Amino acid sequence: MITFNKDSRFFHLSTKNTSYVFGVYQMNHLIHLYWGAKIPEDNVLTHYLSTQRMSFSARDDGFTAGSTDNLTMEYPTFGSTDLRSPAFDCVFADGSRVPQLRYYSHKIYDGKPKLEGLPATYCEDGDKVQTLEVELVDSLKDLHVFLNYSVFEDYDVITRSVRVENRGEKCKITTILSASVDLNSAHNYDFIHLDGAWAKERAVNRQPLFHGKQSVDSKRGATSAHHNCFVALSEHNANETMGEVYSMNLVYSGNFEAGCEVDSYDTGRMFIGINPFEFGWTLENGETFQSPEAVLVYSNKGLGAMSRIYHKLYRERLCRGKFRDIERYALINNWEATYMRFNEEKLLAIAEKAKDIGLDLFVLDDGWFGKRDVDNCSLGDWVVYKEKLPNGLGGLAQKLNALGLKFGLWVEPEMVSPDSDLYRAHPDWALQTKGRVPSTGRTQLVLDLSRKDVREFTINWLTEILSSANIEYIKWDMNRNMTEVGSLLLSDERQSEVYHRYILGLYEILETITSRFPNILFESCSGGGGRFDPGMLHYMPQTWTSDDSDAVERVYIQYGTSMCYPYSAMGAHVSACPNHQVRRTTPFEMRGHVALPGQFGFELDLSKLTDEEIEIAKQQVKEYKEFGAVFHRGDCYRLISPFERHISALNFVSEDKNTVILLRYRTVAKPNERFAFVKLQGLEPDAVYVRRDNGAKYTGAFLMNAGIPWEFALTEYQSAMTVFDKQ
Ligand code: DGJ
Repeated sequence: MITFNKDSRFFHLSTKNTSYVFGVYQMNHLIHLYWGAKIPEDNVLTHYLSTQRMSFSARDDGFTAGSTDNLTMEYPTFGSTDLRSPAFDCVFADGSRVPQLRYYSHKIYDGKPKLEGLPATYCEDGDKVQTLEVELVDSLKDLHVFLNYSVFEDYDVITRSVRVENRGEKCKITTILSASVDLNSAHNYDFIHLDGAWAKERAVNRQPLFHGKQSVDSKRGATSAHHNCFVALSEHNANETMGEVYSMNLVYSGNFEAGCEVDSYDTGRMFIGINPFEFGWTLENGETFQSPEAVLVYSNKGLGAMSRIYHKLYRERLCRGKFRDIERYALINNWEATYMRFNEEKLLAIAEKAKDIGLDLFVLDDGWFGKRDVDNCSLGDWVVYKEKLPNGLGGLAQKLNALGLKFGLWVEPEMVSPDSDLYRAHPDWALQTKGRVPSTGRTQLVLDLSRKDVREFTINWLTEILSSANIEYIKWDMNRNMTEVGSLLLSDERQSEVYHRYILGLYEILETITSRFPNILFESCSGGGGRFDPGMLHYMPQTWTSDDSDAVERVYIQYGTSMCYPYSAMGAHVSACPNHQVRRTTPFEMRGHVALPGQFGFELDLSKLTDEEIEIAKQQVKEYKEFGAVFHRGDCYRLISPFERHISALNFVSEDKNTVILLRYRTVAKPNERFAFVKLQGLEPDAVYVRRDNGAKYTGAFLMNAGIPWEFALTEYQSAMTVFDKQ
């Protein structure tokens, strides 16, 4: 629900449990007033503006309320009276800066428009969603900036994005954040973000805010494994179940920055958007620019409630297509089974076992094209490697289909190997900076997707390959950071646009291919979880979470990932031991218990499993088929963090609230550890729950307040999945 009070000139945006208020103030400055738990609309909030601050700050003539430097601003610019970090900045044709954006008009309407060329959340008929568009104008330069707010009332979410229309002289945008919110009392908050590296993505990182600017970002061309485009500020004592949390997540897959600048008065300017570093976008008269969308979630019930809001929104109103609401495939992927050393016979031997244990789909990973025996060649030459697959993809697909399995394929369309026919024919198609030798990563270069000819080539070969065989799943990989970023086709002035143009080009390809092949399930991947972000999830409902398939490592990685991404989006496989990344040996059971809540599969040579392991694998597939919907459409509650203890636990409650699944893991053995009770969450206190494995009955209140003991021996890598049915 969105209202505008004509007297106070305040906008009041409210969801089921939250309010967001800002207003048009003196001299048409847009002032931020409140974001937090729901407050009544008719209360006037002007006391938020009474600042008693003595400072050097300047003020506009006629502005009697102190300086905007000391106020909470809604969409700050730099150079006039507010000298903190801006949400928007630009350079005009005459070299001047200091954009001055003032309220001009607004409209409120039902529903939510699409974002031109960018992924975004959406609404469906019957959703309570409204949009507010506030027009700000720099009247000297005739630059119009539209702030868009969409309120998802039942989801408790507000989204924001910004569109610029240049009706004046040419200018160059240098900063355009998607959201900026000035919060009072930032000294009360911790800064939470997800950091990592290849094979150790999205660890939960939490520190108290300090005075000054703190942020995480990517300058790598993709969101990256190093930082995720997510930031949360929480009260110091907030935990999974209590306390205030403000959070932002960006629906974008390229360079971003997210953070908070705390000023001398403890006002925290929380922000998220395209990374201003190395960014510049020239707008001629009549041109527009659209920023990506930020998703804002506030919770006063801790981090768990925040995450569940993101999970539901992303499952239902970010992901799209046929696979959004149905259980997906349990699969076998041959990567860790064979790497690139395979032939049809070897693949079929694995496939037969896959069928035997009840899997749905066989994924052929890297190595099926060109002369690809090692990772130093052939990207770009998307023709079947006949020595490995004499019957082509079609022949393999037919044999798999005859076995009763679907066929899935790995591709890496954004790359080109210097040793490829494609690169020999089109060296100018790779990203490059004039005069510099482009550096390779994994012996490959990045294709310049800002170019139309490259995009057309990519769409054409993908269409051809996907039509050439009965392919029902695609794993879309991307295996390096971008360097020497530049495009040979763009003018000198526009080289600072290449990072963003690349992402727009990628989105154009993804939109075309995923809508052309609606029956294919797409999974994104970037050397594991190097591009696990809401932008990719809009096109592909799941992402390969990490190249680290070790069960213990995955307990951490998946826990961190679940801060804002649902388990339904996490590809998770049982792999061989000793594990290929960390050499650890964990029980087959634990590997299953860790992979089961995600998009489940196997990634090992099934033909080498013992009879006993085959039996366990069959059981795991059965459990996945039975409980997949609980994990993927139910609510997830994080109970014990592996980052805090040597054990971890979570429980899922099915959509109909009738099934509860408790997962417990021990990551390290420790003697004489303190006794652990696991207290479940999200149950009905008065309902009775029957434990399936032993018939014990408990009330919800008992399970949530007293909990059940850890129950296992102290040995390492113990795990258990316990199912309760509501009576
Ligand atoms: C990186 C991916 O994350 C792996 O799963 C695998 O597909 C390799 N690339 C193949 O090159």
